[in-house]
Amino acid sequence: MTSLVLALPGNEEAAVEISRRTGSESGRVAVRRFPDGETSFRLLSDPRDRPVVLVCTLDRPDEKMLPLLFAAATARDLGARSVGLVAPYLAYLRQDRRFQPGEAVTSALFAQLLSGAMDWLVTVDPHLHRYHGLEEIYSIPAWVVHAAPLLSSWIKANVREPVVLGPDAESAQWAEEVARGAGAPVAILEKTRRGDRDVEVSVPDSGPWRERTPVLVDDIISTGRTMIAAVRALRLAGCPPPVCLGVHAVFAPGAHEELLESGASRVVTANTIRHPSNDVSVDGLLAQEVTSLEVDS
Ligand code: R5P
Repeated sequence: MTSLVLALPGNEEAAVEISRRTGSESGRVAVRRFPDGETSFRLLSDPRDRPVVLVCTLDRPDEKMLPLLFAAATARDLGARSVGLVAPYLAYLRQDRRFQPGEAVTSALFAQLLSGAMDWLVTVDPHLHRYHGLEEIYSIPAWVVHAAPLLSSWIKANVREPVVLGPDAESAQWAEEVARGAGAPVAILEKTRRGDRDVEVSVPDSGPWRERTPVLVDDIISTGRTMIAAVRALRLAGCPPPVCLGVHAVFAPGAHEELLESGASRVVTANTIRHPSNDVSVDGLLAQEVTSLEVDS
């Protein structure tokens, strides 16, 4: 039977695209807050005997998690055959070890919560640093789609004479793949992070590519401190104003504005989190992945 695609609040655009491209039905939910701050959740479409696909990107996850868990449980309660989640941005992956004594390893705890509620999960470029794959913490099938080919195409279409730059060692995995696809040279900068907002980036040797347009590529832009420090270091090294290209536009309050003011020529992100900087759409990739899952099931 045709899948029922349900958008949690704020995910309507992505859900409509996914249901249109997969030929599924777009269902409806009603979510509101009671005056005491509790959540009221209502499923307005019938999930009986159908695969249900919930669409909910998971930036600002704390406020989104309860409505999402209620949606999954209610769909099951009303007879859904299966419940899967499309989460274009998957949160809590950066807390991947106990950095301080007594600290919660929230990546694993969050994964347990989602694994208990969903039958499968699809996401875009999860921030895997010390984990090798989502299967290390998720006990459900978790599929990953990669935005790199889309970022490469964006660079090819929009930047003349680019050099792709990863702002730190962790970003090398994305930057190198994006550079290959764009047919551009690549270099990795050096980052020292002393605190959430205390970041220093240095440029090793810009000699070989100083005349090219720097395109900084990272998976997440959150406080923007990494990108801002990289932009400043590149400008000090005499490079042209860099383009900042990110997959997930997490953007803490004020971060986007500060990044634009720091000397970046342009800030562009994929639409895993809806934001004014979005100029790369992952909807097609997500729809393809959901279609292949349905074919397999
Ligand atoms: C590093 O862990 C990530 O790849 C990003 O560089 C980081 O998450 C960016 O964070 P922020 O924008 O807060 O510097």
